[in-house]
Amino acid sequence: MEKVLIIYGSKQGSTAAMAGYIADVLESRNIPVVSKNVFEAKPEELKEYKFILLGSSTWSDGDLQSDFIDFEREMDDLDLKGRFGAAFGSGSSRFRFFCEAVRILEAKLRSLGCRIMLPSLMVNDLERRSEEESREWAAVLADEIEQIN
Ligand SMILES: Cc1cc2nc3c(=O)[nH]c(=O)nc-3n(C[C@H](O)[C@H](O)[C@H](O)COP(=O)(O)O)c2cc1C
Repeated sequence: MEKVLIIYGSKQGSTAAMAGYIADVLESRNIPVVSKNVFEAKPEELKEYKFILLGSSTWSDGDLQSDFIDFEREMDDLDLKGRFGAAFGSGSSRFRFFCEAVRILEAKLRSLGCRIMLPSLMVNDLERRSEEESREWAAVLADEIEQIN
């Protein structure tokens, strides 16, 4: 089974927790996972994986979490054709650009040739359903990965 790479950027831990729930579900389905905080990852690493999940919370009127800003720009030179991806993150509907960082990451993966496996997961921190939503999403993702593999 091909490994899944998860890279996440999280300021207060909500998106990091989502990455943990997602990894837990995938691993329970015998899908191997490598999960990294974006500050300890390099864009070139993405090429080594068939399955790529990117996660970020949203800040400052629709920006990526700060550790992800340079990383996303440095992804520009990558060719991700033949890879399969998805994006996730935590945000708050109190803000105008709800989960904009997740949209940015999904669009980035697409623009580099990566096929998007399922609609992005955008969790609203006001609803306090992050774990449930992350686990449900990861279960659908696991089905997709098993079919592609
Ligand atoms: C100053 C500030 C700006 C924010 N801007 C946005 C925003 O533009 N869009 C959004 O969806 N959430 C926004 N949020 C909410 C955070 O993204 C949300 O609390 C999220 O759960 C944090 O996730 P993290 O712990 O993974 O960093 C903002 C929060 C703060 C405090």
